[in-house]
Amino acid sequence: MEINPVKGTHDIFDKEAHSYRKIEMICRYVADLYNYQEIRTPVMEHTNLFIRSVGESSDIVSKEMYTFEDKAGRSITLRPEFTAGIMRSIVSNKLYANADLPLKLFYLGPCFRYERPQAGRYRQFNQFGIEAIGEPSYQLDAEAIAVGHRILISLGIPKIKVVVNSLGDEESRARYREALKAYFKDHIENMCSDCKRRYEVNPLRILDCKVPEDIEIVKGAPKLHDFLSPESKIYLDSVIAALDEIGIEAEIDDNLVRGLDYYTGVVFEYHVVEDGEIKDVGALGGGGHYGKLLKEVGGPDLEGIGMALGIERLALIDQVVNKNDVLNGPDFYLIGMSDEIIEKNFSLADIIRSEGMSVDCAYHVKSLKSVFKVAERKRAKFAIIVGEDEIEKRQIKVKNLQTQEQTDVKLDDMALVLRSMLNEYMEAFYASQVEMK
Ligand code: HAM
Repeated sequence: MEINPVKGTHDIFDKEAHSYRKIEMICRYVADLYNYQEIRTPVMEHTNLFIRSVGESSDIVSKEMYTFEDKAGRSITLRPEFTAGIMRSIVSNKLYANADLPLKLFYLGPCFRYERPQAGRYRQFNQFGIEAIGEPSYQLDAEAIAVGHRILISLGIPKIKVVVNSLGDEESRARYREALKAYFKDHIENMCSDCKRRYEVNPLRILDCKVPEDIEIVKGAPKLHDFLSPESKIYLDSVIAALDEIGIEAEIDDNLVRGLDYYTGVVFEYHVVEDGEIKDVGALGGGGHYGKLLKEVGGPDLEGIGMALGIERLALIDQVVNKNDVLNGPDFYLIGMSDEIIEKNFSLADIIRSEGMSVDCAYHVKSLKSVFKVAERKRAKFAIIVGEDEIEKRQIKVKNLQTQEQTDVKLDDMALVLRSMLNEYMEAFYASQVEMK
C-alpha cells in the first residue's frame, strides 16, 4: 500500500529545491549585510511558551498548534513560529548579559501550523526571520522592514507592497479595546463562534476574521489610528520617513493588526503586487515591535523588533520570476569512452573538484549520443569527453552544451582553461538573463 505524505506537507526536489537553496543563500547573505548572527533553536518547546507569548486569543494557539504529550506527560508543541523560542533561548542562555545591545539574531527552519492547506499555505513550512532585542529605536524598526524588503528585491520580485501600522502603546490599545467592545456589543450575537470567543478574550482579534459576513461588520468598526497617542503616531511616521529615505515606500493599512498577541507599536507585512503570472499567495512575510515579550518569558524588560518571511511563498514566486534559471546543474559532465578511461576519470574529476569546479560523471560506458542527452538532462554546462585519442595526446575534449562548441584542452593547462571557459559561460548566461527581464 502506498503511503502518502501527511496532509499539508510537501516534498521539495528538483527546481523547487534549487529555489529553496537560492532563497536561503540570499537570506543568509542579507542577514550578514546587517550583522544578524545565526541562532538555531529546537523545533519542540513547552506548550506553555506559546500560550504565554503568541497568546491564547490568537488562532495559532487556539486552533493551529501541533501539541502532544511526551512519554513523561509533558505538554510539548512543535513551534508554530520562531520568535517565542528565540526569546526563551535568550533567557535560557542569558544572551543579553554580555552582549552589546541590540542583540541581532537570524534563523531559518521549519514551523508547524494546523491550517487548511491551499496555495502557499502548508502545515509544515519554513521561515527565515530576524529579531533585534534591546536598545529600541525607530531606525531598528525600519531596518527590520528593510531586511525583508532587500531579500524580496534580491529575488527579482518586480513589485512589493509594504504595509505598516501601529498598535500604539498599552494605554491607546486599552482605549481601543474598549471602543471595539462597545461597537461589537450589538453585532456579536450574529458573528461567528470564533469572534464570540475573541470578543471575550481579545476583541482586537475580531479584526482578523475571514468570514465574509463578519468582514462587513468589521468595516464599520472604530479605527485604531484614531486612538493612537501622539508619541505612537510620531514613531510610526519616523519609521515611514526612514524607509522613504532608502527608497522603500510604506503604506499605512489601518486594519493591519497581525495575528499574534505579543505585538506592541509598529507592525508590518509584505505583499506581492499581482502582475500576469505573479499571483498573490498571502503575506510574503510580516513582523513587528514587541515591548513585553522577553519579560513575559522570564527575561529582562527589553523591547524587540522582528520579522519573518515564508520561504514556501517566496519559492512559489521565484518559480515564476526566475523560471529560466538554469544554475542548478554541474559545471562539467565527465564522459569516458572505455571502462579503463572511466576508471581514470575518477581521479580526473577529483582534480577538477579540488579546483573548486563541480563535476558529475558517467560511471559506465554508453554511446556518445545517449551520454550527451544525460549531460543535458542533468543541466551540465559542459561535457568533457575522454577517449583513447585524447589520452594519447594528453588532452581532453570540452563541449559547451549551450553553444555545442568543442575545444581541445591540454591536460597540463586543464584547471586554468576550464576555469576561464566557465567564467565566460557565466558571463554570457547573466547577460542573457538581463536581456530576458
Ligand atoms: P507570521 O505572519 O505568522 O509571523 O508568519 C510570517 C510568514 O510566515 C507569513 O507572512 C507567511 O509568509 C509565512 N507563513 C505563515 N504561516 C504559513 C503557512 N501555514 N504556510 C506557509 N507559510 C506560512 C510570525 O510568524 C512572526 N513570528 C514574525 C515575527 C518575527 N514577528 C516578530 N518577529
